[in-house]
Amino acid sequence: MEITKGSKVFITGAGSGIGRSTALVMADLGCRLFLTDLNGKGLEETAAMVRKSGGEVCLTRVLDVADYAAIKSFADEIHKSYGPLEILMNIAGIALFALVEDMTHEHWKKVINIDLWGPIHAIECFLPEMIRAKKGHLVNVASLAGLIGLPWHSAYSASKAGLVRLSEVLRVDLKQHHIGVTVVCPGAVETPLKNTVEILGLDMSREDVQEIKKRFSRHAISPEKVAGQIIRAIQKNKFLVITPRDVHFLYICKHHFRPIFNYVINYLSNLMNSGRYPERPKT
Ligand SMILES: NC(=O)c1ccc[n+]([C@@H]2O[C@H](COP(=O)([O-])OP(=O)(O)OC[C@H]3O[C@@H](n4cnc5c(N)ncnc54)[C@H](O)[C@@H]3O)[C@@H](O)[C@H]2O)c1
Repeated sequence: MEITKGSKVFITGAGSGIGRSTALVMADLGCRLFLTDLNGKGLEETAAMVRKSGGEVCLTRVLDVADYAAIKSFADEIHKSYGPLEILMNIAGIALFALVEDMTHEHWKKVINIDLWGPIHAIECFLPEMIRAKKGHLVNVASLAGLIGLPWHSAYSASKAGLVRLSEVLRVDLKQHHIGVTVVCPGAVETPLKNTVEILGLDMSREDVQEIKKRFSRHAISPEKVAGQIIRAIQKNKFLVITPRDVHFLYICKHHFRPIFNYVINYLSNLMNSGRYPERPKT
């Protein structure tokens, strides 16, 4: 869809990383922003950055996307004063890397509540009004882990794969209402997430674990680049965005060059497992 001046855009996770970068680009395009995050300080910083650059922030709200009532109340307030959104962006998320034997029930619930239920809550609260208006675009930021079963990503992959499938269904179901859908599946993006990711069962001071973090940063792209890709995907009504290029290669290997894919996944698995069970032989 064409992103016109004055378009109303709702963004979760706007206080940091990809959400903040996307808010800044949307503001540059003349959009009116409705920004949320659990982190009030980050949210206010983003709003200040947008306003300083001449952009328009209509409302901000500190809320937890896992809390349906909080999203519903903010959605009602937006609809009452401003009408339906043009663009709905589910960007907020958390990451947890762990083996199942190290996870409690609370770990599972936390990841799935934020990474899968969070987007569902926003979809429930905002899409009916967009459908009535018969226009708009939905962006869901999932992950490469939603396309590929990455080692140590069980709860995260389950949530993000659910979000990818949900996006596929909505892509078809919303077409009749002239609403486009984009699902974004990044590999590594250089954002504060790399510091907030919860990693269970690994001694973070170990050299090989630090090496994994360094490799992540070497492959990572900037959140500004991802924001640009999101904007182009909306404008071209492109469904799937996989970024950066090397993770796209892995996705292609999964479907067409299975031995290469298996080799990479096994390599990653051994790398992580050796930090958790150093005494065990590689598989
Ligand atoms: N950074 C990466 O390498 C990477 C890779 C793949 C996918 N992603 C996805 O991109 C999205 C954005 O992540 P990012 O890299 O910009 O990370 P980030 O940590 O910089 O931003 C995530 C934002 O979400 C907010 N948030 C977390 N829990 C929340 C909750 N319960 N309610 C409301 N807000 C909450 C955080 O406060 C933060 O501001 C996430 O969904 C993440 O899973 C990131």
